[in-house]
Amino acid sequence: MSKDKVHIFDTTLRDGEQVPGCKLDTKQKLVIAERLDELGVDIIEAGFPISSPGDFKSVQEIAEVVKHSTVCGLTRSVKKDIEVAAEALKNAKRPRIHTGIGTSESHIKYKFRSTQDKILERAVEAVAYAKKYVEDIEFYAEDAGRTDNEFLARVCEAVIKAGATVLNIPDTTGYCLPEEYGAKMKYLKENVTGIDKAVLSCHCHNDLGLATANSIAGVINGARQIECTINGIGERAGNTSLEEVVMILRQHPYLNLDTDINSKLLYSTSQMVSHKMGMPVQPNKAIVGSNAFAHSSGIHQDGVIKKRETYEIIDPEDVGVDESSIVLTARSGRAALAYRAKKVGYELTKLQLDRVYDEFLRFADRKKEIKDEDIHKIVETTDINIESLA
Ligand code: KIV
Ligand code: ZN
Repeated sequence: MSKDKVHIFDTTLRDGEQVPGCKLDTKQKLVIAERLDELGVDIIEAGFPISSPGDFKSVQEIAEVVKHSTVCGLTRSVKKDIEVAAEALKNAKRPRIHTGIGTSESHIKYKFRSTQDKILERAVEAVAYAKKYVEDIEFYAEDAGRTDNEFLARVCEAVIKAGATVLNIPDTTGYCLPEEYGAKMKYLKENVTGIDKAVLSCHCHNDLGLATANSIAGVINGARQIECTINGIGERAGNTSLEEVVMILRQHPYLNLDTDINSKLLYSTSQMVSHKMGMPVQPNKAIVGSNAFAHSSGIHQDGVIKKRETYEIIDPEDVGVDESSIVLTARSGRAALAYRAKKVGYELTKLQLDRVYDEFLRFADRKKEIKDEDIHKIVETTDINIESLA
């Protein structure tokens, strides 16, 4: 059975770049946009053109260089925003305007001091206005995670009639549980007339660490687009992480969902974004963290050396990491030491390994991690006749 495609909408350059200290200049954004295009991202949200002349310029230049991906610009439900976005996107091969408005009770009451009917009217007007400029219109119902489903369905139905091609259902505050977010998508699929004319999109924030789980629940329940960022960067606790959702769909083929992402470019893209934004990747970050394929306990190391799959569900090469690493610490066993010693040139017999291992443990108790140069020292200080392979 052929798999259903989940579109990947990358917002590293918009939601991701909103993080304090992560500001990029146009040149840096262009390099990242070209890499996202090569990675196989379907839609690149290049910025919020009305927000500053710099953002306008970045969106405009990205629109000119991107070859395959759709290029998208964010707007509020405000005519001027839409005009400026349309201008910035005018040279894009595939332009998309992303417009929307807050739909939750708290946004309507406190942010807009308005009513549901007036918000619905503004949403429809914005979509219809954007439609004059481009065909592909994505509508976001900000704070949809906390919006009453019945009202959300009314808004979705009305904006589809006005020409929206994608319906973004953001869990703006990262509040939802996966079951709740999945049920919201299912409700919209079942209760919005005309829903087959639009793609439902997941846009989840990570305030409770559930952004990835919620996005996956969303696509299991009918959404076919995920909005995400490289390394999961974004406002507050961040957005859904692109590398996580891509690999989850790939590692669970029975879901019958996949993306067009070239996963072999995930690690290098993560490194590029981290470097350009000055935002380190936490070592234990899934898929792209420096420890994601590192094994340090003796039991795990022994298993991985015998057969990688005993403790790894992803082949590191599939995400662009050369190989799994066996980290030597005081918790490591003989198998790991023999493996690493061989890599730096020493083929140890069982007897030699026993002697070197005793010296290794003394060393390892004093150091956090044993590096290749330490192995040479340990072997040299051990009084045995080592046959060097080097
Ligand atoms: O989190 C959010 O609601 C957003 C919208 C502007 C799409 O980023
Ligand atoms: Zn967001």
